[in-house]
Amino acid sequence: MAQVSLKNVSKIYGGGVRAVDRVNLGVENKEFLVLVGPSGCGKSTTLRMVAGLEEVSEGSIYIGDRMVNDTPAKDRDIAMVFQNYALYPHMTVFENMAFGLMLKKYPKSEIVRRVNEAADILGIKNYLDRKPRELSGGERQRVAVGRAIVRKPLVFLFDEPLSNLDAKLRVQMRTEIHKLHLKLQTTMIYVTHDQTEAMTMGDRIAVMKDGIIQQITDPITIYDKPVNKFVASFIGSPPMNFMTGRIVKSNGHILFDEGRLRVRIVEEMKSKLASYVDKKVIFGIRSEDIYDKLFVSEAPAGNIVKATCEVVEPMGSEVYLYLNTGKHSFIARVGAHNRPAVNADMDVVFDMSKVHFFNADTEETIV
Ligand SMILES: Nc1ncnc2c1ncn2[C@@H]1O[C@H](COP(=O)(O)OP(=O)(O)O)[C@@H](O)[C@H]1O
Ligand SMILES: [Mg+2]
Repeated sequence: MAQVSLKNVSKIYGGGVRAVDRVNLGVENKEFLVLVGPSGCGKSTTLRMVAGLEEVSEGSIYIGDRMVNDTPAKDRDIAMVFQNYALYPHMTVFENMAFGLMLKKYPKSEIVRRVNEAADILGIKNYLDRKPRELSGGERQRVAVGRAIVRKPLVFLFDEPLSNLDAKLRVQMRTEIHKLHLKLQTTMIYVTHDQTEAMTMGDRIAVMKDGIIQQITDPITIYDKPVNKFVASFIGSPPMNFMTGRIVKSNGHILFDEGRLRVRIVEEMKSKLASYVDKKVIFGIRSEDIYDKLFVSEAPAGNIVKATCEVVEPMGSEVYLYLNTGKHSFIARVGAHNRPAVNADMDVVFDMSKVHFFNADTEETIV
């Protein structure tokens, strides 16, 4: 059991590229922390520094109370699972899982016990005599996880372990890794570019962009209270809708004026927006906070917006409407039986208590 902490950790590659930029991150004992961000943002580099596979350029990394900057990977008591399983093709599943323990000269009986226990947890007991090529992608990934489990490490590191699997298997393995964490009760850091994995698996999520951690908190807070436009757009599918416009005052109300549409700002958001009157802002609304007016019994005044419905996309359990105000396009997620006419104008209702505003220059959240 161990906590992991990164204090002002940077990685500067040759040529002065700051791939990881002054990262501060505390992973608690037994926590499942997901590090998420677009490709190239520095996730793998961060994880590899924790594992000891990459030197730290600046700052310190602690595992438990121990500063490990100069501790070789093999002495860090960490196990890492990669995207490309990296199994030994000529060894059986049993041998692949046992290999690390054999190198460490564990007694045979202990190795057999640990491999069997891990195989049991992962449901691969029947494959112990097979070679990796005789396994499916999902089974191979289980072996790679098994190889990490048998070592009983202080910390597990996962680097996009599900990226090579097909969509269905990915969902299944996601649940299995989640269950595994509950069972093993070990600190885990999980890297992914997939916001769904981050939302569903993480106790907390750290969102990274250009080597910088943007926000670290629990999934619901990340979703409901993103600190800036990047986090707001990265987390959630379909992504949050954005529109640029101005805050204006009219008849005692404060409104967001997009050019075509005007919506009334709710009482609770007024004070934060007061200093933005007559200024440009970015308005954000999630697709599930937009309704077809026909299905809303009482829409409060100032929430109704006229838009052209350009595409109706039935998803089975819900319908995506691709709408256009004349200035901005946006997506609404409505009920499965809600099928407005295509290329016709319709009224939609914005739930103004759920909207977001961002500073147009800094893209930081205003409210
Ligand atoms: N060995 C390396 N030498 C130079 N630049 C590297 C090296 N490894 C990664 N980078 C650069 O560092 C940045 C972050 O890479 P990486 O950590 O692999 O991102 P991610 O895992 O988020 O996709 C990228 O711009 C990448 O090109
Ligand atoms: Mg990577």
